[in-house]
Amino acid sequence: MEIDFSLWYRVLAPRPVVIVSTVNSRGISNAAPFSFVMPCSVSPPLIEFSSSPGHHTAKNILKTGDFVVNVPGRGALDKLWKCSGNLPAGVSEIKKSGLTEEKSLKVKSPGIVECFARYECKLHGKFRTGDHITFVGRIVRAFVEDKYFKNKEFKVLQADPLMHIGGKRFGLVGKIIKVK
Ligand SMILES: Cc1cc2nc3c(=O)[nH]c(=O)nc-3n(C[C@H](O)[C@H](O)[C@H](O)COP(=O)(O)O)c2cc1C
Repeated sequence: MEIDFSLWYRVLAPRPVVIVSTVNSRGISNAAPFSFVMPCSVSPPLIEFSSSPGHHTAKNILKTGDFVVNVPGRGALDKLWKCSGNLPAGVSEIKKSGLTEEKSLKVKSPGIVECFARYECKLHGKFRTGDHITFVGRIVRAFVEDKYFKNKEFKVLQADPLMHIGGKRFGLVGKIIKVK
């Protein structure tokens, strides 16, 4: 069947979900989930995600020039959902949603403790992509909890990352298959 252009991306799913945390110019923190996200260079380490220009996340990054990409596991689902709600500018969605922030080492934006991986990013580039702005971040610190990264291998089943299907529907990895 032919599908409407407003729905095309829904079939490109499930998509990994991240929580992007930022601060505004007064230092008040903010966080929101994003699933339009992907790695775009290994060396230098670059990651990109796309945000509607109206989101506080986008406005904060344009002002401060940095952000943290946090990777949540299944246990963070309810809190992640809460921080996708629309709170007034200047109200920290991190605290309101029950997430815990921690000071980052290399950027002003805080990390989220409940997430098993955190990428501290400096804004490397941005471009308007239709109804979104695509932000490219240069990763200046990449942290993952020890138990989920052994012998250079990501322990995906143990970390149990969340993926977004659409609306309130999320997916989990569940099973790994290997080529012979
Ligand atoms: C699972 C999930 C994924 C989302 N992915 C995106 C996305 O990729 N881009 C986007 O602009 N909004 C996305 N949203 C919507 C934002 O998270 C939501 O509008 C949020 O309130 C924006 O917060 P902010 O204004 O504090 O930045 C997503 C929401 C959910 C629940």
